[in-house]
Amino acid sequence: MSLIAELRAALGDTAVLEGEAMGARPASDMSLTGTSLPRAVIRPRSTEELATALRLCNAAGVPVIAQGGMTGLAGGANPSGNEIAISLELIRGIEEVDAASATLVAKAGTPLEECQRAAEEAGLFLALDLGSRGSCTIGGNLSTNAGGIRVIRYGMAREQVLGLEAVLADGTVISSMNRMLKNNAGYDLKHLFIGSEGTLGLVTRVVLRLHPPPGEITTLLCAVESYEQVVALLRRAQSGLGGIVAFEAMWRDYFHFNAEALKLRFFDAEHPFWVIVESTMDREAIETFLSACLEDALISDALIAQSQAQSRQIWSVRHGHPIEVLPNLLNFDVSLPIGMIGDYAVACTAALKQRWPAAHVSFYGHVGDSNVHICVSVLYGPGEDMHDVDGIVYGVLGQYHGSISAEHGIGTLKRPYLHLSRTPAELALMRSLKQALDPKGILNPGKVI
Ligand code: LAC
Ligand code: ZN
Repeated sequence: MSLIAELRAALGDTAVLEGEAMGARPASDMSLTGTSLPRAVIRPRSTEELATALRLCNAAGVPVIAQGGMTGLAGGANPSGNEIAISLELIRGIEEVDAASATLVAKAGTPLEECQRAAEEAGLFLALDLGSRGSCTIGGNLSTNAGGIRVIRYGMAREQVLGLEAVLADGTVISSMNRMLKNNAGYDLKHLFIGSEGTLGLVTRVVLRLHPPPGEITTLLCAVESYEQVVALLRRAQSGLGGIVAFEAMWRDYFHFNAEALKLRFFDAEHPFWVIVESTMDREAIETFLSACLEDALISDALIAQSQAQSRQIWSVRHGHPIEVLPNLLNFDVSLPIGMIGDYAVACTAALKQRWPAAHVSFYGHVGDSNVHICVSVLYGPGEDMHDVDGIVYGVLGQYHGSISAEHGIGTLKRPYLHLSRTPAELALMRSLKQALDPKGILNPGKVI
């Protein structure tokens, strides 16, 4: 019997999609770099069905690729053409919210926003949040160790996870559904599956840690004249505004491109840097803080959002969808020591513009987490392609000892450059782990390492 026939027999015909029934969705994540459809898409309904499917695929030596909300930006969920894609969309739903232990148990295919809402309904707060909250899934968030906009206060996805269940390549179910904050009973196995992009096992269920609600969040937009002042504002806000729950910087070209396209104008003058700060302090404390910053010339202007709608407008510039229309747009996700980001941005822009004088190069992102995103749009000449841009962006990054991936992962797009951010010994240990957990190499081959 062929593998597809075995899968149909084991999971039922409706769980196996081939040809046109797959649609176009399984070809690419949001990096839009995937061009091939998988051999078939299977949609297991439970951990047991997924385990059965993996056992069959492993026995046949056929590669598989896990797919969630397809919102990744590193090509980690893109097929190369011969894999079976395993969609987690039917392994979905909140299993439990336990207010006493402040935990939430969800199945991997549950959209992040649904998890956030379930926590909120129980009077608690799930601290993971990112722009694609409505379509990304919690399993994908864990598999990529997603970052987002609340990292500065609560940490990345990894920090929200107490336990999980994962299925290994051979179908073994690893149930590590810990609910305790403290548990040092041997190796902490969940970390093998968090951030490994489906190359060591497929996450099927998760135990998330919840927090008390942060209270009312106020959004501020500050105009700042230099990168040094952006960093000074960060440190001042962290001490003077209590716990800030977001700190996002936008360099001039990024801010103005998006604000103009969205027809939003917050201040009369233009400024080199724009910073969004979110705080849970009361209005009076925020006003006092801003007055002191203005007096000390740390900022040159500031706006306190007067409504949810105005806060959303400010964030719409930050999310920057208008910029996606630029031709051949590449979005980089690098990290480097916070104090060096300003110099890196200058050096990176200069190097790119030396090669392509008309290039669009702009920066924005989670500066408080040492993470900056770079938008690069160039019109390639004959014989040029995106690898030439990669080479320049990562080449300059190397001089600052930065990382090629802060939060989006390695996927396929950054795999050729992983050695720039990891030592040979680290890469060898990654290969040993891969060999131990997936000896036939069927899990998401060609990704990460
Ligand atoms: C963001 C994505 C690109 O921060 O990571 O908007
Ligand atoms: Zn980001």
